Amino acid sequence: MIDAATQGALEQAAFAAMRAAYAPYSGFRVGAALLAEDGRIITGCNVENSAYPAGICAERGAIAAAVVQGVQRFRAVVIATEAEEPTSPCGICRQVLVEFAPNLHVISVTAGGERATHSLSALLPAPFTPSSLRHS
Ligand code: THU
Repeated sequence: MIDAATQGALEQAAFAAMRAAYAPYSGFRVGAALLAEDGRIITGCNVENSAYPAGICAERGAIAAAVVQGVQRFRAVVIATEAEEPTSPCGICRQVLVEFAPNLHVISVTAGGERATHSLSALLPAPFTPSSLRHS
């Protein structure tokens, strides 16, 4: 699993990302901090848009930021919000995460100190993955 120091660093990074969120329409700020297999921490926040469907979630922002840095392998993601209960990634984000990290640890944290941990394989069973595209 993840040691306490790394978990603390991830949570700090996720909350810093959350504070950078652009969420004027929902008022729901989200920060995501990915732990890469090489130990790097890469963050994203939700970025909304006046054309609502054009907005993007924190988790997908973090994946895009990682990929452009050449990072494609991850151990964990911490998702930080100000919600009352820890929130799981949305369906689209689960699909984007599973592309790169089928065994990802998903740790959701709230500003109030609530925590929940899931495996991505439990959150998205029987996923569509790159190998699903194989055909004769
Ligand atoms: N949001 C995320 O950033 N991640 C999720 O997994 C769920 C939802 C954002 C999208 C939108 O900006 C706001 O939270 C409310 O849905």
